[in-house]
Formats: sequence, C-alpha cells, structure tokens
Amino acid sequence: MLLEVKDVYKSYKKSFDIMSKEKIEILKGISLYLKERECLGIIGESGSGKSTLGRLIIGVEKADRGSIAIEGADITKTKNKAIKQKISVVFQDYISSVNPRFQVLDILSEPLRTFENLERKDIIQKAIDLLEKVGLAEEYLYRYPHELSGGQLQRVCIARAITTNPKLIVLDEAISSLDVSIQVQILDLLIQLKKEMNISYIFITHDLTAITYICDRVIFFKEGRTVEEVHSIADLKNVKEAYSKALLHAAMRMNEKEEIYEVQRIS
Ligand SMILES: Nc1ncnc2c1ncn2[C@@H]1O[C@H](COP(=O)(O)OP(=O)(O)OP(=O)(O)O)[C@@H](O)[C@H]1O
Ligand SMILES: [Mg+2]
Repeated sequence: MLLEVKDVYKSYKKSFDIMSKEKIEILKGISLYLKERECLGIIGESGSGKSTLGRLIIGVEKADRGSIAIEGADITKTKNKAIKQKISVVFQDYISSVNPRFQVLDILSEPLRTFENLERKDIIQKAIDLLEKVGLAEEYLYRYPHELSGGQLQRVCIARAITTNPKLIVLDEAISSLDVSIQVQILDLLIQLKKEMNISYIFITHDLTAITYICDRVIFFKEGRTVEEVHSIADLKNVKEAYSKALLHAAMRMNEKEEIYEVQRIS
C-alpha cells in the first residue's frame, strides 16, 4: 500500500478573532487508500474539504486526529525528509505557484537544491531532462513564467513536481484552469508519467469527464465525509447515493467537452 489515510479529522477556527476558540470541523473521519500506480479521483462540491485533505497528505498542515501513512510511515509523526520527498503537488493556479522572477531553470532547480547536493552543470542537465519528460524543449529553460502559455507553465509545474522522483502526486484541480484541448494533452502527459515513473495520483476535481479519463477509482466527498466510493470507473454511472447522482448529472451537461475528449482519445 502506498498511501493509507485512516480516520482523519481536521478543524479550523471559525473566526479570525484570536480570543475565539470556536472551531468548525472540515474533515470528519476520512479514510482512504492508494496503491502504487493508481489514480484515485476525489470529487465533491465546493467547500467539501478536498483541498484540505490534499494539504494534509502533502504534509503542509497537520490533522487533528487520525493517521496518514506513506509506505507504512506515518507522516503526521515524522519529519523525515525522505518521506516528504515521496510526495509532490500540482495546483490549479499555475501562475501563483511559481515565482514570476524565476526563470524555468530556477523553478525546476529549487526542489533539487533542497534535496540533493548537485553541481550547477548537473542541475542544468537534470532540468533539461525534466523538460524533455514533460514535452518542452531545452530553449524553455531560460524563459520567465510570463513568457509561457498556461499549458506550458503547467507542464513546468508538473516537471517541478517530478524532480524528486515522487511516489505520489496530489493534483488539486491541476487542469481546471486550462483550455479543454490542452486539458487532454496534460492528462495524457500525466498518464504517460504515471507509467514511466510508477507514480500514483490523487486527482482532485469537479470534473467527471477528466476523472473517467485518468482515474481508476473515485471517492465522492460531501461536507468532509466520503459518501460513496466507486471501485471501478466502468461503474461510475451506477452510483447509488443521490448526492453522487447529482454531481454526475451536473457533469454530464458538458457534452461538447466530452466530444473533444473522445476525438483526442481516438486520434
Ligand atoms: N486555513 C483555513 N482556515 C479556516 N477555514 C478554512 C481554511 N482552509 C479551508 N477552510 C474552510 O474549509 C472548508 C473546505 O475548504 P477546501 O478548500 O478544503 O474545500 P474544497 O473541497 O477544496 O473546495 P473547492 O472545490 O472550492 O476547491 C471551506 O469552508 C473553507 O472555507
Ligand atoms: Mg479546493
């Protein structure tokens, strides 16, 4: 088992008043697992706690209760750098997730500097290899974020996410800000990287079309709880809960988009 989340709770303070102790519970006993090379989709209405769970899994916030283990090691109890190195993240907002004053080379070498003692020429070579992996030519190395398209910049963010050879990448609405045709390209890239590098994904989204394209299993999230789990994408249309049906229904109206996905899948 790659990832095991057991009975995780998380609450935040209700107001910014530092005297106030009132809390609001966002995650209410979440459990899930992920095997190697698997892609687990998490779908749920806005505010249901998907990104909060993502932040706990990548270790930038702590759960109040419960455990989160990567290959058996509880990340809530250890500061082990080697474990942290196994998890990466890609966010929706590719523009604000990079430093606008950094060239692509600097963006990519940031995680390398933290984890490895490499010489400059090795860093440059590694950055070139990473760009190649995400389908960008060497010439992009010295560009600034504003000199890239949204899809290109998200490729750079994916390249940055794989610098440390992670076992798991949390993709939080990672394709949502992109043009539909670019979304398919990025999904194809993610599928290819998953095969090549044995990576698993947690794919957080509002978008069921994308889920059917990339995910093996899906969890339906509502108000910090799992309301339904689909173990095989083929069964997605047979969900039982009214909430999952409603989400499914809302997603189906994007016919045009489905067609674009379909065309790309065939070609
Ligand atoms: N640091 C924080 N302090 C207080 N409340 C927070 C904090 N972070 C998130 N919340 C609240 O937790 C709830 C869940 O937020 P979260 O971002 O996890 O939802 P989400 O499912 O990712 O939504 P979306 O689909 O819109 O991205 C929201 O009501 C949000 O306001
Ligand atoms: Mg979110």
